[in-house]
Amino acid sequence: MATHREVGVGDFVLLDKIDLDHFMKNLEMRFRNGYIYTYIGEVCVSVNPYRMMNIYDKDHVHQYKDRELFENPPHIFAIADASHKVMRQQRRDTCIVISGESGSGKTEASKIIMKYIAEVTNQGGRSEIERVKNVLIQSNDVLEAFGNAKTNRNDNSSRFGKYMDIHFDFKGDPIGGHINKYLLEKSRVIYQQEGERNFHCFYQLLMGSPDELLKRLSLTRSPDNYFFVKQGRSANVDSVNDRMDFKKVENSLKSLQFSKEEIDSLWRVVGAIMHLGNVEFSTDEDKVVIPDSRLMNTIANLLKVTREELTEALCERVIAAHGDVMRKEHTKTEALYGRDALAKAIYDRLFTWIVDRINSAIAVTDTGYNKKYDSSLIGVLDIYGFEIFDNNSFEQFCINYCNEKLQQLFIELVLKQEQEEYTREGIEWQNIEFFNNKIICDLVEAPHKGIIAILDEACLNVGKVTDEMLLEAMDEKLKGHKHYTSRQLKSTDKDLRHKVDFKITHYAGNVVYYINGFMDKNKDSLFQDFKRLLYKSSDANISKMWPEGAQHITEVTKRPLTAGTLFKNSMSELVKNLQNKEPHYVRCIKPNEIKSPSNFDFERVKHQVSYLGLVENVRVRRAGFAYRQRYDRFLKRYKMISPSTWPSFRNGSDRDGTKQIMDEYRFADDVKYGHKKIFIRSPKTLFALENKRNERMFYVVTVIQKSWRGYKARQEYKRMKAAFAIMNYYRCYKMRSYIDKLETKFRSAKQMKDYGKSIKWPAPPLPLRKTVHTLRKMFNYWRAYMILRKIPKKEWPQLKLKITAASILNKKRVSFGLERKWEGNYLSQPSENTSYSIYNESVNNLRNTQHFKEVLFSSFVTKFNKFNKCAERVLLVTDKCIFKLDKDRFKNMKEGVELSAVTGISVSAGPDQLVVIHCAGGNDLVVSLHSTRGEDKIGELIALLFNKYADIKGELQVNISKVLMCSLGGKRRQISIQVSSEIKSATFRKDGANIIYNLPPDHAILENGNSHIKDY
Ligand SMILES: Nc1ncnc2c1ncn2[C@@H]1O[C@H](COP(=O)(O)OP(=O)(O)O)[C@@H](O)[C@H]1O
Ligand SMILES: [Mg+2]
Repeated sequence: MATHREVGVGDFVLLDKIDLDHFMKNLEMRFRNGYIYTYIGEVCVSVNPYRMMNIYDKDHVHQYKDRELFENPPHIFAIADASHKVMRQQRRDTCIVISGESGSGKTEASKIIMKYIAEVTNQGGRSEIERVKNVLIQSNDVLEAFGNAKTNRNDNSSRFGKYMDIHFDFKGDPIGGHINKYLLEKSRVIYQQEGERNFHCFYQLLMGSPDELLKRLSLTRSPDNYFFVKQGRSANVDSVNDRMDFKKVENSLKSLQFSKEEIDSLWRVVGAIMHLGNVEFSTDEDKVVIPDSRLMNTIANLLKVTREELTEALCERVIAAHGDVMRKEHTKTEALYGRDALAKAIYDRLFTWIVDRINSAIAVTDTGYNKKYDSSLIGVLDIYGFEIFDNNSFEQFCINYCNEKLQQLFIELVLKQEQEEYTREGIEWQNIEFFNNKIICDLVEAPHKGIIAILDEACLNVGKVTDEMLLEAMDEKLKGHKHYTSRQLKSTDKDLRHKVDFKITHYAGNVVYYINGFMDKNKDSLFQDFKRLLYKSSDANISKMWPEGAQHITEVTKRPLTAGTLFKNSMSELVKNLQNKEPHYVRCIKPNEIKSPSNFDFERVKHQVSYLGLVENVRVRRAGFAYRQRYDRFLKRYKMISPSTWPSFRNGSDRDGTKQIMDEYRFADDVKYGHKKIFIRSPKTLFALENKRNERMFYVVTVIQKSWRGYKARQEYKRMKAAFAIMNYYRCYKMRSYIDKLETKFRSAKQMKDYGKSIKWPAPPLPLRKTVHTLRKMFNYWRAYMILRKIPKKEWPQLKLKITAASILNKKRVSFGLERKWEGNYLSQPSENTSYSIYNESVNNLRNTQHFKEVLFSSFVTKFNKFNKCAERVLLVTDKCIFKLDKDRFKNMKEGVELSAVTGISVSAGPDQLVVIHCAGGNDLVVSLHSTRGEDKIGELIALLFNKYADIKGELQVNISKVLMCSLGGKRRQISIQVSSEIKSATFRKDGANIIYNLPPDHAILENGNSHIKDY
């Protein structure tokens, strides 16, 4: 709890002795020391300081934000915060009822509350909320300009009642609102008592508007020129700056989104009313006429109606009787009455129109941003205060009745219901007496016998009933009522004049009302002619204010409700509305009549304290309880602070659970248990509970978050699983349909000549790319099989060799003997070798000594050696080694060359039979193959070596070029091929360091008459 210096006691409940004297002493002491706020529990008593107080700045806002009432010195901010907190935390609608007599500071209080709410909300800075806040605050300037006036009690007296609902979203930020206005005191438009003024806007227009506007409205700056604004003879008020206020209002109108045209209409209407006040009537041969036709012109121009029609409407009226339409000229009195009624009505409609425009700017609409969340609201009621003037008329009667109703509401909610509740709940209770003003409310509003009912009856009467007759009727019916009297009923009461006055003993004092005008004001009638006139205005805004002017003259309309009944109904609706909300009260007190910051008029204040029932309030409060709640709700709110009640209490009733919590925290002394509710005496206990709850909320939030996250994750997982299942199905479907497609495409492949080679494969779906690769391989195998199956199996090895040869030599060498049968071991056959049997025998012997398995290739060759000598030999290629045999006895000449020692093979691109087998060790085998039939054996030899080599070592390098390189005796030598007609068979010769391979012409190609080896 914060400590703060306190003067007297900050809460009257803490007074040692509770009586009026002690109450007054505390209040006066605090006022004199600059402490204008004091609590009675949660009710804030505010004394008008009549000076600027330095307690409403941002620091103070910060000090009170989100704090409990008793943590800080009493302040109206704390009430605003409490109301906002209840609304936010419990999602309950709340209201702040500000009451007190005229000039006690209600309107200021309501503005302070609004500013506080604006300061503490919209931390997120959302622009829409900023706009709503602006409208809520700026609407005040406009409403005060048109609805407030200087009275003898208050320089800025509200002459209308205002109830403002502010809607909040779940974060507690204002998202819109609605203003209800109650009975504007429109008689002020045409008449002001001595010392009073008309509504501020008239003077603001005259003093503050630019010359141009004034000229356009045909006005001068002197209020004395206008009858409607000069009667009180106090156009200048020290505390009011009309010029500045005009600017303020203009600015506010703009930010409230009034268009230029609307602002123009508005000031024209105000100007027209001032001119209308100067209209005078005279009679010409018994006919009412208006001598000043220029003035009529001006007014007609301002209202955008024709001068003729305006004049007609002021001087006569149209009557419809039995379908006939007639004109009836006014008497001078009627004309004056009509003029005044017109002025009042125009102003009243203008005011209603302004309020409607403001409301539409902040309406909480069904669509869009505002309706996204359920809203809760705070209602702020600032209504005209109780007032007594020298001359009190119908308006004061209504205003004071309104205050009776509010006092009644306070009694109902704070004094009566509270006490009744204790009894009902079986809580021990000493009843506290208080004055219940219900009897006065009944005096005014009771059906049939209340003043409003009597007034209505008089107005209903077709015959001519005068105000005097009305008073007689009231005297007759209310005779003997404790709170009503008149001179006729009590001749000793010299305050009252005969036949014109009656007196009501209000809760706040005696008020003498002057009956004259009651009937007219209650009827509130306006000649239909005016409604039609203004409906026809070419100014759309003005026309809109008079919708019923559209009715035809002969149309019969229902008699409208009287002003009194309308007001009574609106009050009962207001009370009903407030009853549904959690109320907070600000009770305003006026310290003196002279607007002095230092004067504390003890008797005046005492009077207010008494009639407001504040001492009784303290008594009820002190004996009572700060907080009560139904057991179920209490448990729901606090169950998380005890392990025995969290997450749910199972050992008994809600009441037992509640008790469990309170015992556990040792609050038993501060509570009483009613039948259905728990009652907690001090706010501190409640605060402690709330604190605990806040601490535990972190845990609760974590639990909720945990479960929620778990739930979300599980949902997500399920969705993912589902997604995968769908993906899987889809993928299978895609694959299946791809395979189906392939199937149809390749259905006839078998019958095709190329076995489907020309069929274009459709693009596979992504996941099938690899599979398609395999499928293609399979297809190729199948195709190969289909092609090969026509060839006998024993030819397949030879075919394989030919394919190898083709893949190496195709398009690189002229020919390689594809067209003939490849025999391999040629020398084993008599066609190639006459000594074949010696050969076979010798090879067999060789096989036995060298351990090879088979002979792959054999041929006669011409060999060239490192000594540049040619020799005729046999080349024998086995699965292990390459041997050179002598050509007669077929004996091995040297050690064979291991196949694995071969490093490459070179051949030319031509049809010759030159072949270089490169060996590791620098001695290559350079030979030219022989063939008895001139066959090309190069392809066969290469394929054989290549395939074998692949089996034992890897890929054998094959070079095909015009000039071959070889190593002989470790020397690199070049072999070039030459065609020569002198030789019969291919041979080698030395050419310097190089070698020439000489070919007979039949191994060459003829081109352009030259024979040469063709490049490939
Ligand atoms: N809290 C306050 N601080 C300073 N002056 C105030 C305060 N409350 C009221 N007043 C003064 O008292 C005047 C009348 O207050 P107002 O709120 O208009 O009374 P009400 O609405 O009750 O008739 C204000 O114009 C202002 O000068
Ligand atoms: Mg006011």
